[in-house]
Amino acid sequence: MHSKKHINWGILGCGKIAHKFSEDLKFVPNAKLYAVASRNLKKAQNFANAHNANCFYGNYKELVANPDIDVIYIATPHVFHYEHTLLCLHHKKAVLCEKPFAMNLSQVEEMITTAKKNNVFLMEALWTYFLPHYQYVLDIVTSKELGSIKKLKADFGFTTTFDPKSRIFNKKLGGGSLLDVGIYPLFAALSTIGYPEDIKASATIGKTGVDENCTIQLHYKNGVTASLFSTITKKTDTQAILEFENGSILINSRFHEPSSVTITKNGTSELIEFDVTTNGYNFEAIHVQEMLLDNRIESNIMSFEKSLQLINLLDAVREKIGLHYT
Ligand SMILES: NC(=O)c1ccc[n+]([C@@H]2O[C@H](COP(=O)([O-])OP(=O)(O)OC[C@H]3O[C@@H](n4cnc5c(N)ncnc54)[C@H](OP(=O)(O)O)[C@@H]3O)[C@@H](O)[C@H]2O)c1
Repeated sequence: MHSKKHINWGILGCGKIAHKFSEDLKFVPNAKLYAVASRNLKKAQNFANAHNANCFYGNYKELVANPDIDVIYIATPHVFHYEHTLLCLHHKKAVLCEKPFAMNLSQVEEMITTAKKNNVFLMEALWTYFLPHYQYVLDIVTSKELGSIKKLKADFGFTTTFDPKSRIFNKKLGGGSLLDVGIYPLFAALSTIGYPEDIKASATIGKTGVDENCTIQLHYKNGVTASLFSTITKKTDTQAILEFENGSILINSRFHEPSSVTITKNGTSELIEFDVTTNGYNFEAIHVQEMLLDNRIESNIMSFEKSLQLINLLDAVREKIGLHYT
């Protein structure tokens, strides 16, 4: 399918994360930011100028109709991921869609079914998975170098000005801590320990009707546990601590982005650093390109199964804390 050397990227939605992703695309070999689309033409033009894109559009439909685009990065608020992914897939455009993949399991299932039906690549942009320090940790987990995992503790908390209209607090835009940042501690548990046997969760629901804090306890076989926390009202350590039979790993703050790890074994600690000079979004983009050049419709790392498990967990937690989006 892709015999040409470079991959033409499109960006759908010119918000904050789209800017960061575009900065990193410049460090992806054979990647070209080809076109960008915003609901506002001037905004798209400014974005295209800032990141040297060939074309810009004042609506999303023209972007997906451009025959020269290979893959589209969807960077809109959570509630639009389903609609925008389907729009791209129906136009046979490969998709890298921001996290959370969608608002619930049935949406994710339909997105995956549509990708398969149209034979088009689709992946959730769980960028942490592709970062060097995180891959390093996963290697230690898989090799059982420190024995089996006994316990995980992970948190993600940040604070921002309270704005009921912002996507962070606005329920209509999928606001709340769980879907925005709680997904990372959940992903840490899923990727290192797996899917739990039991889930307990509690949350503080704020005045806009979204979870401002969310506490999750996952239980696995043999007494293995994961204690997770997210908040949008205070800055927290945002680190992950994995305790094994024969040592521990601290994924230093902030664990979900390019970071370092501290390995403790036999009473001795070693700090391991990774030389990442970008925001870290280039690693997932490189992977997407590899998948496209290999004519795959599914990532062999952030697979459909992983996204299904993740949205299942998010749905289960939301059920426990009584958080329903319409
Ligand atoms: N991977 C990461 O590290 C990371 C970090 C932050 C966010 N994210 C994810 O990326 C997504 C976007 O987050 P963001 O922080 O970039 O948000 P943002 O700054 O608010 O940008 C979202 C963009 O979506 C478009 N949009 C379309 N319909 C909209 C509507 N009704 N209201 C508001 N915006 C609308 C807008 O682009 P136009 O005006 O150009 O159409 C807007 O600029 C979220 O799902 C979030 O979870 C991921």
